[in-house]
Amino acid sequence: MFQPDQIERIRTHFKVVAPHADEMSRLFLTRLFTAGPAVRALFPRDAAARGQDLIASLGIVVKNLGRLDSIEHLFAEMGARHHRAGIEPQHYGIVRDALVASMRDVSGQVWDARIEADWLSVLNAVASMMIRGAGRARMVAA
Ligand code: HEM
Repeated sequence: MFQPDQIERIRTHFKVVAPHADEMSRLFLTRLFTAGPAVRALFPRDAAARGQDLIASLGIVVKNLGRLDSIEHLFAEMGARHHRAGIEPQHYGIVRDALVASMRDVSGQVWDARIEADWLSVLNAVASMMIRGAGRARMVAA
């Protein structure tokens, strides 16, 4: 679980990157498609709007970092939707790394190894909730 000082750090940092959502979203998609061209086919042409959705969903996570279990159902359902869209568990690492790198790009001086590790923990927690939801959707469909 996340410690109070870690939560504070992540929230403070999210306030730095959130105003750069458009740029981050563009950088994120560019990286995503470069890092994993196989995932490009999953995205529609106007995927920039989805980058915004992703950042908005991170806002929900940041707000609830002290009680992630209370939003698990939201992310489980999102993971189930992703599963139905053809997204596999192995895609989550590619997305996590592209997102962390795009956050770093818009952060300037405030980025350091500690905040990078914090965000990796956050995104791993989100991916776990989504992949659990995807797993349940897979079992129900089977
Ligand atoms: C950190 C994990 C992720 C988060 C928080 C996230 C968030 C979101 C959100 C909020 C949406 C909008 C629709 C919805 O709520 O279902 C969305 C759509 C989408 N996501 Fe994710 N996502 C994540 C991981 C992934 C991964 C691993 C992929 C695959 C490479 C992916 C590809 C897509 C695609 C293709 C759409 C639909 C785009 C469209 O139809 O317009 N996402 N994502």
